[in-house]
Amino acid sequence: MIEKNDIKIFESKASLAQYFGRLLKEKTTKSEQVSIALSGGSTPKAIFDELANSYADSIDWNKVHFYWGDERCVPPTDEQSNYKMTVDHLLSKVSIPKENIHRVLGEIEEQEAAGTYETLLKDKLPTVNDLPQFDIILLGMGDDGHTASVFPYEIELWDNKNTCIVATHPDSGQKRVSLTGGIINNAKEIYFLVTGEGKAGKLDEIIHKKDDYKKYPAALVNNPVWLIDKEAAKLL
Ligand code: 6PG
Repeated sequence: MIEKNDIKIFESKASLAQYFGRLLKEKTTKSEQVSIALSGGSTPKAIFDELANSYADSIDWNKVHFYWGDERCVPPTDEQSNYKMTVDHLLSKVSIPKENIHRVLGEIEEQEAAGTYETLLKDKLPTVNDLPQFDIILLGMGDDGHTASVFPYEIELWDNKNTCIVATHPDSGQKRVSLTGGIINNAKEIYFLVTGEGKAGKLDEIIHKKDDYKKYPAALVNNPVWLIDKEAAKLL
């Protein structure tokens, strides 16, 4: 791994996943409870597989509470569901109490799903700076510079006063529930998982603060730790 401030560059997705596995194990060793908001998409799958394969018996899953940073407005059985992806790659393979899993109700009307999730976060998480606070947030970054489900064309959602909003995917029109900037930036620790050559250009713009980089929602995340592979890091 090459380290430069809060940028950690890994040879592969596997070594990135191993790093995160060690990190989560350390957190659960030192804390009574760890609340973690997960990202969706394809990148986290390698992390979830590593946790399932190498840490099923060495992490005390009773201490871990899973949430989601965003969720597609589909049933939990739908192949598009971030929750289903997490079940398939992790939750079905570790002994975690079902009451520790706090999913977005993708199957109900989207505004109701956002409001219900906002209430759940307020009930379950400690309030710090007048906002629910996660211990850890995992974020991905789309090729277009979106994060969670705040897309560049509707970047104003980032500063929405609500902690959960309904966003619309620019290409598919798919409705999604997403956390907003306030609660994301209120987390104790934020990890950006970014892999693949397709992300190299946006990473270059955001990390080197090029041009009008703040047009990308991913650029609005405060002080993340970047966990990236060498393909994504090729322009850094
Ligand atoms: C989602 C994600 C989304 C994702 C990025 C990166 O629901 O799709 O939360 O924000 O993290 O699009 O996705 P990849 O990891 O698949 O590149």
